[in-house]
Amino acid sequence: MSRPPLPDYPWDHMIPYRERAAAHPDGVIDLSIGSPVDATPTIVRDALAAASNAPAYPLTVGTADLRNAIIAWFARRRGVTGLTLAEVLPTVGSKELVALLPFLLGLGEGDVIVHPRAAYPSYEMGAVLVGATAVAEDDPTLWPPEAKLVWLNSPGNPDGRVLDIPELQAARARARELGAVIVSDECYAELGWDGQWADVPVPSLLDPRVLGSDRRDTLVAYSLSKQSNMAGYRTAFLAGCADLIGRLTNVRKHAGLMLAQPLQAAMIAALTDDTHVAEQKERYRVRRALLKPALEAAGFQVDRSEAGLYLWASEGRDAWESIDWLAGLGIIAGPGPFYGPHFPQHVRLSLTVTDERAAAAASRLAVV
Ligand SMILES: Cc1ncc(COP(=O)(O)O)c(C=O)c1O
Repeated sequence: MSRPPLPDYPWDHMIPYRERAAAHPDGVIDLSIGSPVDATPTIVRDALAAASNAPAYPLTVGTADLRNAIIAWFARRRGVTGLTLAEVLPTVGSKELVALLPFLLGLGEGDVIVHPRAAYPSYEMGAVLVGATAVAEDDPTLWPPEAKLVWLNSPGNPDGRVLDIPELQAARARARELGAVIVSDECYAELGWDGQWADVPVPSLLDPRVLGSDRRDTLVAYSLSKQSNMAGYRTAFLAGCADLIGRLTNVRKHAGLMLAQPLQAAMIAALTDDTHVAEQKERYRVRRALLKPALEAAGFQVDRSEAGLYLWASEGRDAWESIDWLAGLGIIAGPGPFYGPHFPQHVRLSLTVTDERAAAAASRLAVV
């Protein structure tokens, strides 16, 4: 079977704008990719160092200690109780899982994979890689009968949209009706900002209020990249339906998709400490408080963005014009069209810059 060639990596299209921004006399402010800039917590680094003697192959399912740490974290931070060892699985970061899940589930031509309208591009790429059809649709009543896999992303990248309990219930019920696997990618769940999410934890698809204890065909993906500044470690995990976790484990064993043993130890340290997560959230709160009003004063409307790591903003003109204008200020943002065809006028700005760069961005936006 031959498939059409993959599209160019979208961020390559940003090169001219990066060059323009780099020419700014006071240096570039990169709000585009969303790669963490703060240090990995010492407890995590110490745990990694202490586990560096690792001559044997690691377990694909992870050590029992790691799986128990994931289970305890879900109960403590996400209100998901009663998970068992057979219902959790570490992954090598979550991007590989997102892009490979259709393959790991055996999907292919003729199958439909649903993802949000404003979406992290890897959901679509996972469909492309197996020759399946990706459909960008948020309304569960419009999900087609051919849907075999549904991705939710709450809080959303790029738009910061949170799905509340009734929305999660409706999505889950529709997926069950279609016989589709439903997976919620929730890696920004600790970053609630506005409305009820300032006080109430962002709910998980595995929340008992959504599905009781019936986790059939339902999974949640989570990542430590952002909440623990571990993007360079590639540490993430899945939880949910034991049958699916078993099937995925089997393929992942055959494919050698296992998380390195020292990283499993580092993950345990991160998952058992809530202090560094709260400290990191506070850093992002400060940066968001600088950037959001500055963007608004400069004529941008910030949409949704009630949670998560990004500001999803529009000036009411073509996104590439906004990208160019921001590049003239030495600010690099992400164009809305990278997140699907429905947002030609949006740009995404990440909170992953130092306080100094966030303040510099705010003052550059203020002088226009
Ligand atoms: C929604 C979403 N899912 C998954 C990922 C992948 O994260 P990682 O591979 O670092 O776990 C990202 C990264 O930006 C993301 O925004």
